[in-house]
Amino acid sequence: MESNIINENDFIYLVLDDRRRWLVQVKSGEEFHTHKGIIIHDELIGRSFGTCIFSKPHESQGYKFYILKPYPSDFILHMARKTQIIYPKDAGLILLHSDIGPGSNVIEAGCGSGALTCILGNYVRPNGHVYSYDIREKSLKQATKNIKKANLDSYVSINYGNILDDDLNHKNMDAIVLDMPTPWLAIEKARKYLKLSGSIVSFSPTIEQVKKTTFELERNNFFEINSVELLLRNMQIKKNATRPDTRMIGHSGYLTFGRKIEDKDNPYRCVKPKKNEFVNLEGMPLRYIEDNKE
Ligand SMILES: C[S@@+](CC[C@H](N)C(=O)[O-])C[C@H]1O[C@@H](n2cnc3c(N)ncnc32)[C@H](O)[C@@H]1O
Repeated sequence: MESNIINENDFIYLVLDDRRRWLVQVKSGEEFHTHKGIIIHDELIGRSFGTCIFSKPHESQGYKFYILKPYPSDFILHMARKTQIIYPKDAGLILLHSDIGPGSNVIEAGCGSGALTCILGNYVRPNGHVYSYDIREKSLKQATKNIKKANLDSYVSINYGNILDDDLNHKNMDAIVLDMPTPWLAIEKARKYLKLSGSIVSFSPTIEQVKKTTFELERNNFFEINSVELLLRNMQIKKNATRPDTRMIGHSGYLTFGRKIEDKDNPYRCVKPKKNEFVNLEGMPLRYIEDNKE
C-alpha cells in the first residue's frame, strides 16, 4: 500500500471549494499564496492526505483547505496543455476496453500535451511501459514536462516519431492508442507492432474520421471493431431540486476499438458441399465421404 503521509516533492490536491482547487508540489521552505490566505509547505510535510489545514494568518484568513491525494484525473485536468486533451471519462474506457494495466506495453501516437500519456503511464506501473510518439516539437516538450512532473518518467518514453511513415521498431505490443488527425492511415503499420489479440483504440472528434478508421480496421483484419461516444452528466443534488446539471461537455470525441486476430478462411466452409458430402448436426465440419469407403 502506498504511503498516506505527505513528503517533500509530493503533489497534493488542495481544495477550498467546488471551483477553487490547486495541484501543488510540496517544497520545504515555500509558501502557497491564495486570495484566501497562505499555506505553509513545511506544515504539510508529515501530515496525512485527507486532513485539512487553515490558511495563515489565522486571525484574518483562517480558511479551511482540504488536502487530498491527487488522482490521475486531477493531474490531467490541471496540467499545462498545448493541445486538446483526452478527458478522464474517455481515458477510463480506453483502459478498460483495451485491457491496459500493470505490465502492459503500449504505443501511443500522438502524445500531445501528455494527458493520456500520464494516465497510461500510471496504469502500466510497475513493470509495463508506454512508448509515446509525436511529430511536433512543442507537444514533445510539453508532454515530457508533464510526465516528469507526474513522476512517471520511468514508465514512459516520449520520442519524436511519425506513426505514419517511421519504422518504430516495436513488436508484440499489448495495445496501441491513437489520438491524431488521420488514424486510418496508421492502421496498417500499427498492426505490425501488435501482438495477436492485442488492442487498438482510436480517439477522434468527428464521424468522418471514425468511418475511415473503421473501414481500414476491417480491411486489415481487425476483429471486435466498435465505436462509442460517452456522455457524462453531472448531477445537482439538492433538497427538492435534484436533477442533471444544466451545463455539460456536449462532445469530446468518439472511441473506436479493434483487436488484432489471425484470420483464415475455413477450408471446409468456403467450398460448397458436393455430392457425397455432409455437414454433421453441430454444423461443423464438413466431411467428405469417398465413394470407395462406403
Ligand atoms: C490532440 S493531440 C493528442 C492529445 C493527447 N492525447 C493528450 O491527451 O494530451 C494530437 C497530437 O497528434 C500529433 N500527431 C499528428 N500526426 C502524427 C503522426 N503522424 N505521428 C505522431 N503524432 C502525430 C500532433 O502533433 C498532436 O500533438
